[in-house]
Amino acid sequence: MAKQIKKYICSSCGYGSLSELGKCPKCGEWGSFVEDTPITQDKKTGAISHATKAVPLSVLDAKEEPRVPSGIDELDRVLGGGFVPGGVILLGGEPGVGKSTLLLQVASNMAKKFGKVLYISGEESAGQVALRGKRLGLLTENLELLCTSNLASALATAQDGDYKFMVVDSVQAFRADDESGWAGSPTQVKGVASMVTDVAKSCNIPTVLVGHITKQGAIAGPKLLEHLVDAVLLFSGEEASPNRLLRAEKNRFGSTDELGIFEMSDKGLNPVSDPSHLYWNGNDAAANGVAIALTMEGSRALAAEIQALATFSPFPYPKRTARGVELSRLQLLLAVLEKRSGLSTRQSDTYLNVTGGLTLKDPAADLAICAALASSITEIAIPSDICFIGEVGLAGEVRPAFRTLARVKEAARLGFKTAVISRRTPKENYPIEVLRISRVGEIRDLFLK
Ligand code: TYD
Ligand code: MG
Repeated sequence: MAKQIKKYICSSCGYGSLSELGKCPKCGEWGSFVEDTPITQDKKTGAISHATKAVPLSVLDAKEEPRVPSGIDELDRVLGGGFVPGGVILLGGEPGVGKSTLLLQVASNMAKKFGKVLYISGEESAGQVALRGKRLGLLTENLELLCTSNLASALATAQDGDYKFMVVDSVQAFRADDESGWAGSPTQVKGVASMVTDVAKSCNIPTVLVGHITKQGAIAGPKLLEHLVDAVLLFSGEEASPNRLLRAEKNRFGSTDELGIFEMSDKGLNPVSDPSHLYWNGNDAAANGVAIALTMEGSRALAAEIQALATFSPFPYPKRTARGVELSRLQLLLAVLEKRSGLSTRQSDTYLNVTGGLTLKDPAADLAICAALASSITEIAIPSDICFIGEVGLAGEVRPAFRTLARVKEAARLGFKTAVISRRTPKENYPIEVLRISRVGEIRDLFLK
């Protein structure tokens, strides 16, 4: 008899190895390797029998997928317009972030608008879900609940009823009958996801599958399922803050740039349609070390407050810390300021913070970061009705930001009087005064004298 070779798999990202490694070389998770049980395949059904005919792409009828809007704009924006019939979406997030709350709200909306909706919960009892639904005013006749740990029977219910939307909460709570391993193990998670996907596709039901992410990697993570589903959405938020951000990691039906913003309240999750006011406190008097960036999150412009604090360092190696911006970006911009604007940064401990827990990836926030740093170093405040839009290069040049007009329009709506932009930005009909600069050193001449 052939010797059975043991295989191990990272429960966080699915990386396979012949030995049980302590640290995953792919995702860096510690202690995440578990033994992988191979799926036995029936040789007869797996055999290649005949060639299938390929079809030229040009003769295919390329129809836009019809969209089923969830009724929650922040979610529809991230999805690219709404759910697609038969599309399976994986909603990942840490336990307690609000996945079940969001989905109960979505399910109730869909039930009111389109007809029967099935919410399958393997984690909570019917009483718990009903209590939450009642408290949030979400109970409606068409919203049907199935609390069970038997996925196969729950999916049979889904096949028989005429459901317009389905939620499976969560992928780690169920077992796929013909796979071995405990619920939540990599093999089980893959088995559960493929059972749900089969039913969603064959019955054309838009479906959301919940997947918990845990930092310890003890439970199989949504990374394992990325290729099985049509879209992966990640729901995140800091413990101390009510703000919740929804982003797409993968999206077969739309872009992955869009950001959905919600606020957790005692009435459930509320969409935040005016996010600038979350991240920027418009009423504050000018303080040194503060500058406002107009950044783009997907198709939306929003104001972000950047705060810098530079203090004298008694140590030969000054400390640099950044929250909301990568540390390497702070170090690079400090070097540019030192070399290109004559400000001495080398003896300062420097702290940088983007308020509200926002993470800035947009390069056009560079100019505001430099302005905040320069303002803290010189201890002169920049007037609070000025905002900054531009990327800063190594030569100290200020480069144009994409979609500058949309950003300036948002600045005008928020009451800013002046936007500082790159001299090379195309001429447009800007609604407020724009100050065009070509070098980062000009910030000092304009505002910090
Ligand atoms: P939940 O949706 O159960 O999270 P997940 O499904 O991602 O594990 O949300 C749980 C948290 O949300 C819980 O800590 C309490 C909080 N919460 C509110 O603050 N307000 C509410 O109206 C609800 C329903 C939950
Ligand atoms: Mg939950």
